[in-house]
Amino acid sequence: MAGADARLTLDGTTLDLPVEHATVGNDGLQISTLLKDTGKVTIDPGFMNTASCESRITYIDGDNGILRYRGYPIEQLASQSTFLEVSHLLIHGELPSEDVLNALNNRVRRHMHLSDNMKQFLFAFPRDAQPMSVLSGAISALATFYPESTGHDDESLELATVLLLAKAATVIASMQRRAAGGDLIEPRDGHYVSEFLRIAFSPNSGDMDVDPDFRKALDLLLILHADHEQNCSTSTVRMVGSSHANIYASIAAGIGALSGPLHGGANEAALKMFDQIKESGDTVEQFVAKVKDKSEGARLMGFGHRVYKSYDPRGAVVKQVADSILSKNGGDNQTFEMAQRLEEIALSDEYFIERKLYPNVDFYTGLLYSAMGFPSPIFTPLFALGRMPGWIAHYREMLSDPRTKIGRPRQIYLGEVERDYIPMGQR
Ligand code: SDX
Repeated sequence: MAGADARLTLDGTTLDLPVEHATVGNDGLQISTLLKDTGKVTIDPGFMNTASCESRITYIDGDNGILRYRGYPIEQLASQSTFLEVSHLLIHGELPSEDVLNALNNRVRRHMHLSDNMKQFLFAFPRDAQPMSVLSGAISALATFYPESTGHDDESLELATVLLLAKAATVIASMQRRAAGGDLIEPRDGHYVSEFLRIAFSPNSGDMDVDPDFRKALDLLLILHADHEQNCSTSTVRMVGSSHANIYASIAAGIGALSGPLHGGANEAALKMFDQIKESGDTVEQFVAKVKDKSEGARLMGFGHRVYKSYDPRGAVVKQVADSILSKNGGDNQTFEMAQRLEEIALSDEYFIERKLYPNVDFYTGLLYSAMGFPSPIFTPLFALGRMPGWIAHYREMLSDPRTKIGRPRQIYLGEVERDYIPMGQR
């Protein structure tokens, strides 16, 4: 596409900045010779205006609430696809044939078992250990248990892909079992998401009829979380992977990033916020006033987004599913009604409107997970399980991009200029 380059004039030097054109969305200014040609660097805290890479995986239009995985709208994938099919799409770029999808389902299911030393690894942690810390350790440890899958060749990456999707599911479900006092049970030959629910919730006999509505709801939630372009945790995976660290070390770092309450931890923080409002006796109007006042540092968790300046399309789908599951299962409707009231007030309040703050994917997910019987510490690991294919897809895309270089940002130094050492007696 034709398009004039940008021109930068600085201290008498004029520099043409070539424009890199996107197929859709923001074009970029190529500044790779800026430091060499001008002696200056750019600074952009939080990278709000800075692209870290070129990618073909996910597209978000934050102003219009659009999310597409490999060009397919999230609404169509949410209503017609499955999590493992979306995983293949994100990683390989195309929807799989029926044979390829069946082969993926079978391969992942066969690897859902945990080896004895992996079980010992889990037993080393207290039953109530913070699950994101355990998950990050378990994923990193896969490099030691399956060293043959740590390479950068396609065969190693395919094996690592299957191992990550399979073991993460069993580790998370097993953590929930252990936290509830249960013994670990072996996966059986069931559907991936059904097996996850059975391992998480069944009695020690392992026998349980999985509710088809719950299976469908969880499969949908995993699809909604599967990728989101260069978010904090995915950027972390790319950064760590750019040093040629193996895929497990890179994704373990991403899990650490996701655990923060401003990122993946917001689903648990939002539910905690609803509970705090109830316990405080505040009306939702009074809570919103506290958020706007900022004096107590109150934030409306599950609201706001770096990219979405309109309703997060995922949040809209989660809200619909929460409504159906809660009405079917008679969950905590009072909190759901309070959340909807909170949303209604916020969306009509100038503070939120002028800052373009809308519900994001985390606003209703905690309510829905809770209605399905998940304890709140497992909410963010569920986000991590959903995001696993996205992290894998970005790691593999980063590796295959000839323009990838080890990530090493510059800085603007504001510290002391040179000074001499002061002997102890003179301090
Ligand atoms: C996820 O990046 C992704 O794609 C992430 C994600 C994914 O799929 O990977 O979508 C998942 O992380 C969703 C976001 C979950 N986090 C939360 O719900 C936590 C609550 N929200 C925020 O803290 C905040 O909105 C962020 C972190 C999500 C975005 O922060 P930004 O873009 O850095 O914006 P900011 O903090 O600079 O806020 C801008 C203004 C400020 O007010 P002023 O200083 O201009 O007066 O908006 C205010 C903020 O105080 N603001 C909020 C608010 N979020 C922003 N005020 C009250 N409540 C909030 N939630």
